[in-house]
Amino acid sequence: MSQQAYRPIGRKIFREKTGAWINLNRPQVILTQGMRGAGKSVLDEMAAEQLYINGWTILDLLAARNAENLFWAINKNCKEKWKKRIEKDPSLKGYPHCNCTTSYNISVLIPEYMEFDRKKLDAFNQVELTKAQYVRLCYEKGWVPEWDKKNPPRWDKIDKNWKPKIKLIPLPPPTTTGSNKELIENIFMRAVVEARRERRIVCLNPMFYPNEYHKYRTIEIIIRCLGRMMYTHFRPLTEKEVGKPKYDEKGKPQWTKFQRNWHRVAVVMREFGEVTAAVLKGENQSTLAKKALLDYIRQTRHYNISLIGDYQRPDDVFSGIRDQADIFILKRSPRKLLGDAWKWMFDDIEKRREKIIARYGWQKGVQIADNKIPKIQELGNNYAYVVYINDTYKLWKIPMPMFHHKDREDHFEVVTNLTWVEKPHGKMTAKITKISEKNQEDALKDTWEVKMYDTIRGMIRPLAPKKPKRWGEIFEEIAMMVSNGVIDMPNSWSTPDAMRKWFSRKEKKLLAPMK
Ligand SMILES: Nc1ncnc2c1ncn2[C@@H]1O[C@H](COP(=O)(O)OP(=O)(O)OP(=O)(O)O)[C@@H](O)[C@H]1O
Ligand SMILES: [Mg+2]
Ligand SMILES: [Zn+2]
Repeated sequence: MSQQAYRPIGRKIFREKTGAWINLNRPQVILTQGMRGAGKSVLDEMAAEQLYINGWTILDLLAARNAENLFWAINKNCKEKWKKRIEKDPSLKGYPHCNCTTSYNISVLIPEYMEFDRKKLDAFNQVELTKAQYVRLCYEKGWVPEWDKKNPPRWDKIDKNWKPKIKLIPLPPPTTTGSNKELIENIFMRAVVEARRERRIVCLNPMFYPNEYHKYRTIEIIIRCLGRMMYTHFRPLTEKEVGKPKYDEKGKPQWTKFQRNWHRVAVVMREFGEVTAAVLKGENQSTLAKKALLDYIRQTRHYNISLIGDYQRPDDVFSGIRDQADIFILKRSPRKLLGDAWKWMFDDIEKRREKIIARYGWQKGVQIADNKIPKIQELGNNYAYVVYINDTYKLWKIPMPMFHHKDREDHFEVVTNLTWVEKPHGKMTAKITKISEKNQEDALKDTWEVKMYDTIRGMIRPLAPKKPKRWGEIFEEIAMMVSNGVIDMPNSWSTPDAMRKWFSRKEKKLLAPMK
């Protein structure tokens, strides 16, 4: 509780409309920064939700491996639960908490070798009719009820308008030759167009990508095709298509918000410092996504795409990306985390607080200052400073989104009861996507090569505090793994040096941006 100290705030701010600082009619780059747990993800979600409600299409593409960005589909009725809790214990009033009352349909991009337990997915989506629903349907339609308990009727067979809460979009794992790049793009674009039609949120979570290369290459391919996607599928509607003028003679809007924002897309990138980190130790595969991100962000506004992203420190993000922001959101953060770039604001707040304190005296002054212009270091989780590029800033209360925000205690598999397993690759790709024989070979080769590359990279460039191994050691270890069948390889290297050469050749190829 102490970390999240709730700060009651002057009435003036309470009266402001939810997220009125979000521009609903224009693409915007919104970057949020702040310390761990300060409420950055909540802000991303709340901003994206406001756009969604106003008819934008939302792509929630970057997140930590914890399924946080799949919680759009979860409603735990926290609002109701907290109401009861507060009735029992009035001292909890004002404590920031989840306020969920609803959930949204999502389309989840997964590699096609991730296989979900269909029964559990059906159960989550409630695709089978309950007995009560069945009886009611029979009554409405005048059928004679006959209930087969082993094989209950399914909504997806009965009602063509029925939509699953969670829909899976399997993507082929990208080959190193790029042979299935177009295929991936096409599946992705089709999914987004469908998501707009069905009002779904499109999500990608690295949790389903055990293979780093597949993860970053997929993100790269997706980001790089956003421009083409917008150009071909997200044109503004015309008055002819809608069938009525946009405004009447008096200038009153005639279109619905969905028609007005038919062509608008917002991309959410949580913790995108992870991808764009300027201070990466050496190259790694995130460079793929990083380069693509940089190119893309420079162009977002031409495509009617908004970007909502968060990170912890300004250092985490290339200045090239930072410079594209329309607004910055500052959440709770110590001075040293935000660094020199934000010194002016800390100082400005300090000065304004001192003025108030000088005027009202110590005790009352501090109280007023805390309400009107709290220190950035002490911001409650439900407050943020919205800073515009002309350096003006304003304190805002940030409401929770209406779906359930993932709490530290929430585990996606527990909450949803879904399970999935990784199927053997290679053959799968060939079977499902029916690609040519040459591509089949590529895919099979990729499978062992990419895995091998990942394994060796883990040994030669492990994450701190692990120490890198010597090539001789790695050679022996890999030889052992191959002979034990832990890892696949058609034939092995004769010397550690041959292996080292293979690795650096492979790395060069894997880290080259896709044309
Ligand atoms: N606007 C808000 N209103 C009420 N509670 C909030 C709000 N924002 C955040 N919280 C609370 O703070 C917790 C942490 O928020 P959030 O996950 O958004 O932080 P974060 O900055 O993204 O953290 P991390 O750095 O770990 O990603 C939430 O689970 C929620 O309980
Ligand atoms: Mg977060
Ligand atoms: Zn909730």
